[in-house]
Amino acid sequence: MPTTEFEVERPWLAPYQTDAIFCPARYAVIEASTKAGKTAGCLAWLFEQAFRNGAPGRSYWWIAPVYPQAEIAYSRMKLAVDRSLYKSNDTEKRLELPNGAALWFKSGEKPDNLYGEDVYAAVIDEASRVREESWHAIRSTLTATQGPVRIIGNVKGRGNWFYHLARKAQRGAPDMHYAKITAYDAVAAGILNQKEIDDARSILPEQVFKELYEASPGDLSGLVYKSFSVENYAPDVDDDGASPLLIGMDFNVDPMTAVIGKRVVDQLHLFDEISLSDSNTEQMAKEIRARYPHPRHITVYPDPSGNSRKTSAPAGQTDFAILRSFGMTVQAPKAAPPVVDRINDVNALCKSADGAIRFFVNPSRCSRIVTALENLPYKKDTSQPNEAATAPDGTQMVHITDALGYLVHTEFPIVIRRRMFAA
Ligand SMILES: Nc1ncnc2c1ncn2[C@@H]1O[C@H](COP(=O)(O)OP(=O)(O)OP(=O)(O)O)[C@@H](O)[C@H]1O
Ligand SMILES: [Mg+2]
Repeated sequence: MPTTEFEVERPWLAPYQTDAIFCPARYAVIEASTKAGKTAGCLAWLFEQAFRNGAPGRSYWWIAPVYPQAEIAYSRMKLAVDRSLYKSNDTEKRLELPNGAALWFKSGEKPDNLYGEDVYAAVIDEASRVREESWHAIRSTLTATQGPVRIIGNVKGRGNWFYHLARKAQRGAPDMHYAKITAYDAVAAGILNQKEIDDARSILPEQVFKELYEASPGDLSGLVYKSFSVENYAPDVDDDGASPLLIGMDFNVDPMTAVIGKRVVDQLHLFDEISLSDSNTEQMAKEIRARYPHPRHITVYPDPSGNSRKTSAPAGQTDFAILRSFGMTVQAPKAAPPVVDRINDVNALCKSADGAIRFFVNPSRCSRIVTALENLPYKKDTSQPNEAATAPDGTQMVHITDALGYLVHTEFPIVIRRRMFAA
């Protein structure tokens, strides 16, 4: 029987489109400028997936936040692909390829409608506008097939699943690839023109421009650690096995938290963290010594109230005494510093007013402190952090930021406090 062979010719794509979208990783997360070619690049990718790997009954999904956007993508796909290569069903927004694969264009508005199918590859376009529940549903459809997915969108604040997933990918999680595409990249590639960007900058509010064109979170209002950003990520920061350790510690019982790092001249480099559920100071000290045995020099910067309070210590001992019994030096001011001072100290270390960055954190080894710094909000209309706010894993975020704050406030304060002695 004669067989027909088809060849696909990929349209010309900018190198950044190919690198970000056609990478081998199963999960590619892309934060990109508007009009940088997100949709065009992903249409080419999804078509290739279906064309090369498709078979009768195999589904390939395009998900947009709302139905009219799925319709636009459907029309664009039809225009881009040779008419002889598909049969279309305009009512269902479905294209069937000669190999039997079906490309579906769907809306992510109703997550319940997205469960139940086996999907061989998917694109989530405008992901920061797609509901998190829909992402969960789409992820479930890729389980049996182990299908790849391209998740692409504008940055839209920090408090959404797309932002968190992008940070995870950026931290180098297995099988994930991260890319950021700005409008300047698109200009360099000849897809956008500089005049258009200059015009947008002059017309739009700065925060909006940053998100839409520079792919950086703009509106950080309501967040405690506004100065923390991916500029503080330092994947190479690691323990050298010898430097004295600086450990910030919070005595909350569940979770009990510590952040671990070292001083490098006037910088703090953080490369480890501990979070113990339903714990106490002794267990925390044991865990630290298990990771960093004697004779490693350790200074702990704890919550100053631990010198009297015994919430997390066995009867008769203070938290400080327990830490000392493990050969650790304890550094704490006599009284607890005001919360706002600690917050200001941490923010200034992340990025000072003159642009200096003195805080570097290994984002894959310290994902809890990174998540908390990125997401901890203030309690509405107050200058106090919202203690109830939880990370995606359900733990309260405030405690580990307190642990960091005690360390930074004592060791890296904004104002160098000098004691004056009378002659
Ligand atoms: N590789 C390319 N070569 C030439 N033009 C391109 C390329 N990729 C995209 N374009 C063009 O750039 C414009 C924007 O592309 P596209 O709609 O894919 O971007 P987008 O990032 O999805 O934009 P939006 O912010 O509207 O979602 C379109 O006119 C598209 O045809
Ligand atoms: Mg688009």
